[in-house]
Amino acid sequence: MTKKNLTTQLANVTFDGPLLNASGIHCQTSAELADLANTSNLAGIVTKSATLFPRKGNENPRYHDLPYGSINSMGLPNLGYPFYLDYVQQEKAKPTILSVAGLSADDVIEVLSDIQDSKYQGITELNLSCPNVPGKPQTAYDFVATRKVLERVFEFFTKPIGVKLPPYFDLVHFDQIAAVLNDFPITHVNTVNSVGNGLVVDVAKEQVVTKAKGGFGGLGGAMILPTALANVRALRQRLNDNIAIIGTGGVTTGADVFAHILCGADMVSVGTQVIKEGLGVYDRLTQELEALMTEKGYERLADFRGQLREL
Ligand code: SIN
Repeated sequence: MTKKNLTTQLANVTFDGPLLNASGIHCQTSAELADLANTSNLAGIVTKSATLFPRKGNENPRYHDLPYGSINSMGLPNLGYPFYLDYVQQEKAKPTILSVAGLSADDVIEVLSDIQDSKYQGITELNLSCPNVPGKPQTAYDFVATRKVLERVFEFFTKPIGVKLPPYFDLVHFDQIAAVLNDFPITHVNTVNSVGNGLVVDVAKEQVVTKAKGGFGGLGGAMILPTALANVRALRQRLNDNIAIIGTGGVTTGADVFAHILCGADMVSVGTQVIKEGLGVYDRLTQELEALMTEKGYERLADFRGQLREL
């Protein structure tokens, strides 16, 4: 099989292929990040969403595997943003995306101010969508709050920055979030974060499967693929052309990667399936994607990106 041209562009960065890790997946510690640097067919590394101060995250159990995906309630465990800002400024084998999250708008501004003042010129991603921090809402479900935080960010932030979004489920909400985002010079959206506040019931034990928040947690994996594809498609139809899309959610096969790109994704990130299968998943997904492209006569991602047909 002939190799395909899988290069893709996000902001000022060219990636060798479309695949990324989803933030939170094997990207919290130096050792995990080193593993990602050595993973073939992983075109870029997204760091664990970092907060102003280090966090232990929620109590265990906080991840539970399911036949149809996963539920997690991690609660943003991370080493604090200075660690990740230092990491992305070191010499790198592959491009990085620095993911940051705030427990308040003031936290976001403080973290981004330091990134602005640093030497880092790569892409930052502001996570507006973590569903697992007790007492903290998912900012991007509040369109007024999202606009306000972005107004504050773009008063001073001049480097490439995108946002990580939660899934939306109503066409009006796609219109509303797109209207906000189109008013700002963001590089990309990453869609979707886990489907927040699902509840998995262990019938034998008559109890929940994760500890924090009474068992409510973010759903990922195969079961969220249609939701993820809908969000990629609906946002591609509404966002300015210069806002790229990272499709995240539900990828278990090369055909799923293809479907994300067909819906308009520029890059595709993989979460739950990495936990189930290990880092070799990126080789398998790439082989399956290339085989499908050969079958369909496509040479590059642009040949089919966004070309989903309606009936
Ligand atoms: C978590 O740490 O709880 C998951 C990260 C996220 O959903 O943004």
